[in-house]
This record gives sequence, structure tokens and C-alpha cells, in this order.
Amino acid sequence: MFLGLDLGTSGVKALLVDADQRIVGSGNAALTVSRPHPGWSEQDPADWVSAAREAIAALGSRPGIDLETIRGIGLSGHMHGATLLDAGDTVLRPCILWNDVRSHVEAKELDDEPAFREITGNIVFPGFTAPKLRWVAKNEPQIFEKVAKVLLPKDYLRLWLTGEHISDMSDSSGTAWLDMGARAWSDTLLGACDMRRDQMPALVEGSEVGGKLRADLASELGLSPGIPVAGGAGDNAASACGMGTVAPGTAFVSLGTSGVLFAANASYLPNPDSAVHAFCHAMPQTWHQMGVILSATDALNWYAGIAGAKPGDLTGELGENLKAPGSVTFLPYLSGERTPHNDAAIRGSFVGLAHESDRSALTRAVLEGVSFAFRDCMEALRAAGTELDRVTAIGGGSRSHYWLKVMATVLDVPVDVPADGDFGAAFGAARLALCAAENADAHEICTPPATESTIEPEVGMRDAFASAYERYRAAYPAVRGLMN
Ligand code: XUL
Repeated sequence: MFLGLDLGTSGVKALLVDADQRIVGSGNAALTVSRPHPGWSEQDPADWVSAAREAIAALGSRPGIDLETIRGIGLSGHMHGATLLDAGDTVLRPCILWNDVRSHVEAKELDDEPAFREITGNIVFPGFTAPKLRWVAKNEPQIFEKVAKVLLPKDYLRLWLTGEHISDMSDSSGTAWLDMGARAWSDTLLGACDMRRDQMPALVEGSEVGGKLRADLASELGLSPGIPVAGGAGDNAASACGMGTVAPGTAFVSLGTSGVLFAANASYLPNPDSAVHAFCHAMPQTWHQMGVILSATDALNWYAGIAGAKPGDLTGELGENLKAPGSVTFLPYLSGERTPHNDAAIRGSFVGLAHESDRSALTRAVLEGVSFAFRDCMEALRAAGTELDRVTAIGGGSRSHYWLKVMATVLDVPVDVPADGDFGAAFGAARLALCAAENADAHEICTPPATESTIEPEVGMRDAFASAYERYRAAYPAVRGLMN
């Protein structure tokens, strides 16, 4: 048996798989986010440990599950968070999370130093770890002075499990301190933030062993002592391991609260100018690219709130047959945008409203606008050297057939829908546990799920959607000009 532990923003999931990768059971525990000031987003690392204990206990209480049979643990977690520890491993302040934007000024300062884009291959986004440390240095110097280690959120769970300071390449990619091509910390970039290499954890690949379970904790949790804890991965790379998105050219599109277009690459292919993320994957000599949009199903949920309807009812009203885009264009930038604009200040809009723009016309505009945002991500990946000939859809939004039809036509590639199952980050983490414990090749273990159906682009509507995409592209600079 192998345990995947996923530290999500809203909870911890413990998922158990057997040696044939069949899911045997799972346990969950909830987490909350504290927002003490506008734009801040924090969690207390002690709550992660309590939630992990609770999720493991919930799993262990399921009939027929014996936690002692677990032979390896894999970790996954929300990325970019700054967990600051003193020399005795005491947490110095609440963890500043991935969606905390307080350090946007510091992010811009670092991004303006050419070394960051050159060495990391990425824009320094406000959510990344490095600008958070510069913010702490400026605003909480008494804390900054005491920082002996900076850990990513899932690696704090590893410290609890193993007593060691270790991270993996994929999660470390989101710090803005990693030399992405060399898969090593960059002393130049750490130095630019008045940081040192000894303040960073040791690095392993996600599919390798990254520590062993402490004997005292093992007996407390009912697990076997000394079992390996895999390097693991940031949540997106872990999901990719779960989805089998590891071979070059394979890709998934995640229609969740935020949206991700994720492609696996055999080499390091950066292109910071198009705001594409080029990160290390969770296995050796593999990288990935990612376009991230901040509002995907969030945009539909927002509109559903205004329309006084459930999102599923709004998409259901559209029926099965794709309609050509109408006069309304929707920009889904409700909380700014990462790819392709890297614009924290832009906001969304409806353009082209007319008397006939009824509720379903606006629903269609929302689904189209989010799909166009994904097309922007696809273009960003293309500019960075990746051509996709099909994608697999995951996430809550992928339950709408109509939306997938729009996506297939806008992206102009077939969209595969996987057979029902749990292929998320916890499953990917369990697969990495198996790789580490059995010394197995992650490319062989991380296979894609069976495809239940494939949605083809609607060829007759390709031109109509292509012109609507051009209008969408033209709307951003126009709306940008209206904002300060
Ligand atoms: C990726 C990102 C999010 C977080 C939280 O860059 O910010 O996907 O990992 O899930």
C-alpha cells in the first residue's frame, strides 16, 4: 500500500492505493484560510499537521484498512507558500500562501532584475516565494533576522514526518530561487534576496526518496517506522502524475476555480515574455509548462450568483448543440490575470451587450471568454515551443458538455474526457510514493486513465470562433486603457 498526502488550500486528503494503483480508501480534513488584511492569505502550519493527523486517522478508521501495511508516503501541496522557521524549527509567523498578493511591489522589483528571468525562466509573480521574503525583510525585519529555513507547505509536513529539511524540484520551481535548467538552488538569486543556500532545504527529485518516517511518530500514527517519504510534488505536477501527463506533448486542461493548461516537456522550454510557467516536473530530466488563469469556474460561479441560478442550471439551459458566438465578449479577469498578461490590476468585463443579450447569451459569453483565456495559454505554450494536438479535460467545469464543445472548437483540438475516477494530486502523490519505495520509473508508473469520450472541434464553427477570439484579444488592451 502507498499513501498520497495532499495538502490543499481547503483541506488535507490522505489517499491509499495498492501495489496495482487501485484506490483502497481515503480520509479528509478541512482547513481554512485567514485573510487579516485585503490581499493577504495565510495559514498556520500547525493546522496542516493537525489536519494531516486527522485525515490519516479518518483513513485508518475505514473498515479493512491497516495503516501498518503502507510501504511509502508521497506528498503534494499548494505551491509557493513561505513557511519560515528559526534555528530550532519553530514557525516564526503564519505561512504566506500562493494567493497572497501583498508582495506585488517586491515581485516587480525582483522581476526587473534580469537575473531572475534568465536563471528561473519565469516571471517573478507576486504569489511566488522570493518576493514574500523580501516583503518580510522590509516589513518584519525582526522575523527575517531569525529565518534559519524556508520551507514550502508540503515540506513542512515532511519535516513533521521525517525530521528533515528536504524539498523536490517541481515545488521548488515556484520559489523564484531555482536554476530551472540545472535543477539546483541559485546562489545569485538567493543573494539578491539577502538569503543563503543553508536557509534552503536539500533537493531531491519528486520520485526519489526524501526522508524516512520517524519511529516515534510512526507508532503514534499506526504506521510502520522508517518507511520512505517520496520527494513528492507541487499540486499541479502531482495532478499531472495522477493524470499520466508526463510524456512530452501530453497535456491537460483543468477547469477548476482557477484554470491550468499543463503540458509535459522532455526539455526545459522557458518563455517568460508570454507569462508561461516553465517548471521542473516531478521526475528526473522532465520539465513542464503551464499557463495559469485566475478565474475559470470562478467566473461562471460569479455570474451564476448575479443571475440567481446554479452554475449547472445555466450550462444545462444551453442544451447540447454548440451555437456560434453572439455579440457579447466576456473578459474573465475578475481578480487580475497571470497568463498571458501578468496583470494584477486588470478586471473583467462584458463588451457588446445588446437588447437580445439574455441570460443564456451571457452564460455562453462567460464559457467562451474562459475558453478564449485557455486559448491564450495555448498560444503562450506554442510561443514557448510546445504544440498540442489534444488535451484531457479535468475539474468541475469539465462536467458541462457544452463548455467542452466550446473548448474543443476554440483550442481546435480534440478534448478527451477521462473515465470516472480520482486522478488528482493525492493520487499522483501516492504514485510518487510507489516510485520512491520500489525504485520504479515514474514514466512507467504514471500512465493516463482510460478515455471515456472525446469531444471533437465543431469544424463548421471554427471561423466564427476564430473571429470571436480576435475580438477577445482586441478587448484586453482597450479595457486596459480604461483602467488607471
Ligand atoms: C500554481 C498555483 C496554484 C497553487 C495552489 O502556480 O499558484 O496552482 O499551487 O493550488
